[in-house]
Amino acid sequence: MKKLLMAANWKMYKSVEEGVATARELVSLLDKLPEDREVLVCPSFIMMHSVCPILAQKAGCYAGAQNFYPAAQGAFTGEVAPEQLMGLGCTHALAGHSERRHVLGEMDELIGRKVAFGLDAGLKMILCIGETIVERRLGQIEEVLARQLESGLAGVLSTATAQNLAVAYEPVWAIGTGEVAGPDEILAAHAFVRATLTSLLPKEGAQIRILYGGSVKPDNAATIIRLDNVDGVLVGGASLKADSFSQIVLA
Ligand code: 13P
Repeated sequence: MKKLLMAANWKMYKSVEEGVATARELVSLLDKLPEDREVLVCPSFIMMHSVCPILAQKAGCYAGAQNFYPAAQGAFTGEVAPEQLMGLGCTHALAGHSERRHVLGEMDELIGRKVAFGLDAGLKMILCIGETIVERRLGQIEEVLARQLESGLAGVLSTATAQNLAVAYEPVWAIGTGEVAGPDEILAAHAFVRATLTSLLPKEGAQIRILYGGSVKPDNAATIIRLDNVDGVLVGGASLKADSFSQIVLA
């Protein structure tokens, strides 16, 4: 059975002490984590060392990186390698998050290399995709999502499985704005992502989890996770407090 993946992206928030306190509180609030859910927390690199062991205390809870550089090691100033992260207990990673695409200037080709390198290194990868408001208004949603999926998965068409890959649909206009996509918008985008995944990966595409992200809160999470082709959520702002993220996880 496909488990829901309930993921937190803490972005560039929290000191180490705050991250540790939030992770501890979260693990205790999730004492009765339902069998059908997994929890992933993606903290800043600086606290990975302290947060991983706390999450590891709870079955079904995992730590993920928000980013990494696709090389085993080397002269890449300011970057972090998958092996370094996995050595701390990190099991998952995001690639192609909207802020990396639109603020840090990451292009499709680099994102595709990250997905392939991360999978090969042994990380479970979450490829993030989503259209901007301008692309939506121009009627380019499907074109954008297809391009991001095709380039993001180009190097893993024979190696990606439902166990090691997930896709997060995060419409850029819904991230951090409080403007959540409506059920019809989520249904349409996720159906398109599902169809594209099954055409790119005929064996695994139907089982690969598709998460929704963008202004997910405790009061809309239950509706969102019950929509067709929604297999979890990726939460920013509302994941920073253990109390609100635990309400989302248990929604
Ligand atoms: P918000 O939940 O703050 O809209 O952020 C979504 C996001 O970017 C998760 O990766």
